[in-house]
Amino acid sequence: MAEFDYQELVKATQNFSHSTLIGKGSHGSVYKAILFQENKILAIKKSSIGHDHVSNDNIKKLDNEISVLSSLPPNPNIIKYLGTSIQQNYKLLVIEFMPNGSLQELLHATKIPPPSWSKRIEIALQIAKAIHFLHQSTPTIIHRDIKSANILFDSNWNAKLADYGLAVSRVDSSNSSSYYATQPAGTIGYMDPCYTIPSKLSTKNDVFSFGVVLLEIISSKKVIDVNRATTSIVEWAMPLIKKERLMEICDTRIGLPPQYIEGTIRYLLYVAARCVSCNEENRPSMGEIVMGMSFGLVERVRVEPPSTSWVSLIRSFMAMRRKKKLAKKCHSQKFEDYSDITKGKVLLREILADIK
Ligand SMILES: Nc1ncnc2c1ncn2[C@@H]1O[C@H](COP(=O)(O)OP(=O)(O)O)[C@@H](O)[C@H]1O
Ligand SMILES: [Mg+2]
Repeated sequence: MAEFDYQELVKATQNFSHSTLIGKGSHGSVYKAILFQENKILAIKKSSIGHDHVSNDNIKKLDNEISVLSSLPPNPNIIKYLGTSIQQNYKLLVIEFMPNGSLQELLHATKIPPPSWSKRIEIALQIAKAIHFLHQSTPTIIHRDIKSANILFDSNWNAKLADYGLAVSRVDSSNSSSYYATQPAGTIGYMDPCYTIPSKLSTKNDVFSFGVVLLEIISSKKVIDVNRATTSIVEWAMPLIKKERLMEICDTRIGLPPQYIEGTIRYLLYVAARCVSCNEENRPSMGEIVMGMSFGLVERVRVEPPSTSWVSLIRSFMAMRRKKKLAKKCHSQKFEDYSDITKGKVLLREILADIK
């Protein structure tokens, strides 16, 4: 990958001036760099600076992000890695520029029109695919910081997963629970409450966070809101799902989902409920989630607007079953652990029984 000339990046960001700063997270500052000669716009991530020194921890996180991103093959739903640049003793990360901001802004900023139901479903599928891609990479990668602020949009409004500062790789591919020893980390509200000690690290931590993002996508509610009786989105949404008051979770700003989409939204809420289950074993794998979404309801929303009732919902589950053989061919062993969802067996009662 390209090694960028540091002085060129200084020029392209007007010496990392405030006017080119496009985002700031917990450990990095991201700048928009315009390379006039090549007619290109890039994003540069720099470790955030502490009071009077660059924090060592932030440097480590950026180095970690560079090593994870540079090791991954390209994927349409993963932010594109372009290269690095060395500044004195530490590195800068160069990635593709995402001009349409983050999912957090899209869902919560009042100045942006809220996304349609079909767009929300598409975003959910794209992010599920990105996480699945990480989990089935060799070695397996766990992102650990899945949240709406780390989901960014390209010029075509395709969602991509960014921010690999906390990502960890499996050390030994023959041992499913062998990861580099690392203290639990993540973002409050999205982080799996079971992940309290290093040995509890697993791909199911990302599945939990994905469930939270699904609830956020459908409700546009803040994940943590101290002004809400139930501060956490999970505690707010779960009783409503259990009581089947699903439409009360939906973002009211765009009206209830039209009939042909309602079944898909209901389905996604049940998936979310399984993802945030207290019992890790009840959570689906990302492979199961992608299969369920790709071969069933989500594709239907994109291509045709059929009338959706529970009958047609079950029909599509049955169609998914027929596609199982084909899917096995395409995805080899990665999808062998089909869940009840993809077997077409999932009925409301069973899903609810699963939710603890
Ligand atoms: N490639 C990019 N293009 C445009 N904006 C970006 C890009 N990468 C990050 N940002 C913005 O910067 C913010 C912080 O970046 P992120 O990588 O999440 O840093 P941190 O690790 O500090 O959280 C993001 O939430 C987003 O708003
Ligand atoms: Mg971030």
